[in-house]
Amino acid sequence: MGKQATIFLIFFYLMEVISSIDEHSLLAIKSHVITSDPNNIIATNWSQETSFCTWIGITCSRRRPRVTALDLFNMGLQGTIAKEIGNLSFLKYLRISNNSFKGVIPNEIGNVRRLRWVRMSFNQLSGEIPLSFGFLTNLEWLSIEYNHLTGTIPWSIFNISSLHTIGFTGNQLYGTLPNDMCYHLSKLEGLYLSYNQLSGDIPTSLSACSRLQIISLSYNNFTGAIPMQIGNLSQLQTLYLGANKITGKSLDII
Ligand SMILES: *[C@@H]1O[C@H](CO)[C@@H](O)[C@H](O)[C@H]1NC(C)=O
Ligand SMILES: *[C@@H]1O[C@H](CO)[C@@H](O)[C@H](O)[C@H]1NC(C)=O
Ligand SMILES: *[C@@H]1O[C@H](CO)[C@@H](O)[C@H](O)[C@H]1NC(C)=O
Ligand SMILES: *[C@@H]1O[C@H](CO)[C@@H](O)[C@H](O)[C@H]1NC(C)=O
Ligand SMILES: *[C@@H]1O[C@H](CO)[C@@H](O)[C@H](O)[C@H]1NC(C)=O
Ligand SMILES: *[C@@H]1O[C@H](CO)[C@@H](O)[C@H](O)[C@H]1NC(C)=O
Repeated sequence: MGKQATIFLIFFYLMEVISSIDEHSLLAIKSHVITSDPNNIIATNWSQETSFCTWIGITCSRRRPRVTALDLFNMGLQGTIAKEIGNLSFLKYLRISNNSFKGVIPNEIGNVRRLRWVRMSFNQLSGEIPLSFGFLTNLEWLSIEYNHLTGTIPWSIFNISSLHTIGFTGNQLYGTLPNDMCYHLSKLEGLYLSYNQLSGDIPTSLSACSRLQIISLSYNNFTGAIPMQIGNLSQLQTLYLGANKITGKSLDII
């Protein structure tokens, strides 16, 4: 056998091994999904007799059999998120919104460094927001609205300068927002934090998130005055602050 052929074979062998990591991860994810899935979608469709790239909800890279998107939106799924999700190292888009996933978001999600979109709204996820989200330096969209998350918002999230949407509406998050939260969020367009138990002052640094179009902070326990600096947000279209404990005189900011 020629040298080139050998190299070729080794290459294909490695490709097989590497892509089997993705298959292994997906099968772990499948095994954690109790498919009360009325139509048994995952149970029947995610069959090892076909390539995982053809499975429902999976998109693979055009060049190699690696998973780039996992979209399980609104499939009536129950279960937990397997920690093996952290092995899908080519994943860019993750959407599991509108199902009944329970339990915690595994810390391992912070290993998926290519992630750009994480959308997990409308589930029953509990526990704290993993600190490891701070490692996802390509993240543009993070929405985990209407779940049962508790604890404080990890400050590491405010260091992800690629973010344009942060959504944690409708959880049980508490604690304060760091006053310097906007120093690294120059691309942020939407900040959705309503219906939590957040407290303390509204950070004056919000004006440093200069692309903000929507700020939604209603139904929390925020106190103090509305920072005047919000008036500097020239792109701002919507500001929800109702049902807090904001004091001081109203300002002509809009
Ligand atoms: C799984 O679903 C996809 C998309 O609907 C379909 O193309 C594929 O044939 C299905 N595979 C099996 C084994 O049912
Ligand atoms: C996948 O992830 C699990 C748990 O995070 C880890 O123990 C395992 O070694 C990983 N498997 C591969 C093939 O990388
Ligand atoms: C979410 O799921 C519920 C039922 O599970 C359904 O009624 C609703 O229309 C879904 N939302 C979207 C946006 O599809
Ligand atoms: C945020 O980034 C700065 C440097 O850019 C670093 O000093 C700080 O420790 C980071 N904070 C967190 C919580 O990751
Ligand atoms: C809001 O603050 C008050 C005290 O000022 C406290 O009694 C209440 O439990 C807090 N509510 C929430 C939802 O944290
Ligand atoms: C707000 O804008 C004014 C000028 O329009 C500027 O003087 C001021 O420093 C800005 N404040 C902040 C907090 O950015």
